[in-house]
Amino acid sequence: MYTARPLPALVHDLRRGFAARPRTVPSKWFYDEAGSALFDAICELPEYYLTRAERAILERHADDIVASAAPDELLEIGSGMARKTGVLLGAITRRTGHARYVPLDISAAALEGSARSIRAVVPGVAVDPLIGDFERDLPKLALSPLSRRRMWALLGSTIGNLDERAAPQLLASIAARMRPGDTFLVGMDLVKDVTVLQRAYDDAAGVTARFNKNMLAVINRGAQADFDLDAWTHRARYDAARARIEMHLESDRPQRVRLRALGATVAFERGERILTEISRKFTHETAASTLRDGGMRLVSWFPAADDGFALALAEAAR
Ligand code: SAH
Ligand code: TRP
Repeated sequence: MYTARPLPALVHDLRRGFAARPRTVPSKWFYDEAGSALFDAICELPEYYLTRAERAILERHADDIVASAAPDELLEIGSGMARKTGVLLGAITRRTGHARYVPLDISAAALEGSARSIRAVVPGVAVDPLIGDFERDLPKLALSPLSRRRMWALLGSTIGNLDERAAPQLLASIAARMRPGDTFLVGMDLVKDVTVLQRAYDDAAGVTARFNKNMLAVINRGAQADFDLDAWTHRARYDAARARIEMHLESDRPQRVRLRALGATVAFERGERILTEISRKFTHETAASTLRDGGMRLVSWFPAADDGFALALAEAAR
């Protein structure tokens, strides 16, 4: 996927992100082949309850989720390895006898993984993967035949990785493409005990730390940079006032990093941080208002047994 040539989109994002304070790199740059594999490993960690919680809700409620809209096509945004999606597609095919599945992801490795897991778990489904950036390439998803009843899905609390501006923007661009009868299913992590939250993003085995630092390897390759991965420390902390985890990379020492594709050298002080990810935590109220801000209406709420995670089913508000 990566060549020796600089990636123009990455170069653009780095120019902007390194000029900002705090320095920030968009989280989509985590996900090359190694990053997708590391995220897959995060989903299995004892501390990372999100994947298990969302899977349990799907196992319990997938039939209810598809009952009223009866979709025969599932468009999944940021599908990753699609390890939970099979549960939903199973419920869809039980109802309709057939289904088409369109995963959209920025990572080719994730798309290969998703196609593989769906074909293994729900063999009858037609899988048409699409590579792209969900902040730009949603039009590619909207091309299915008018006869289709579609469910759009954004699982894994990926909505929480978008801030108060970006989340409504993505929701609005989904809502604008939904047809009458289409539904939108979104997984949202919920506000809970700080220790539980912090551990989910700073695990004992250090997998999340490797995942976070992998972004520097992606930058090294995509922007011909010379980040020393050993000179950075993974940090995750919960900002209770903003109800969000913030993930940073912290510079262990003063250092200069050369980015050949930008024709620039960037200086970092000791202790200086690069913001690499936010992960917002919701309540029923903020979930409903987030959807409203994006032109959607919350239709049904499926919380986990312990109220730690929820799936929200929504429709475009017109
Ligand atoms: N839905 C999966 C994966 C969540 S991780 C789950 O629930 O486990 C987020 C996924 O979104 C990754 O696979 C990543 O490659 C993808 N992604 C992140 N930013 C993206 C973007 N801007 N456009 C498309 N895909 C993106
Ligand atoms: N959507 C996931 C979440 O917010 C993404 C994620 C999980 C993540 N663990 C991470 C992103 C660690 C960066 C680093 O939970």
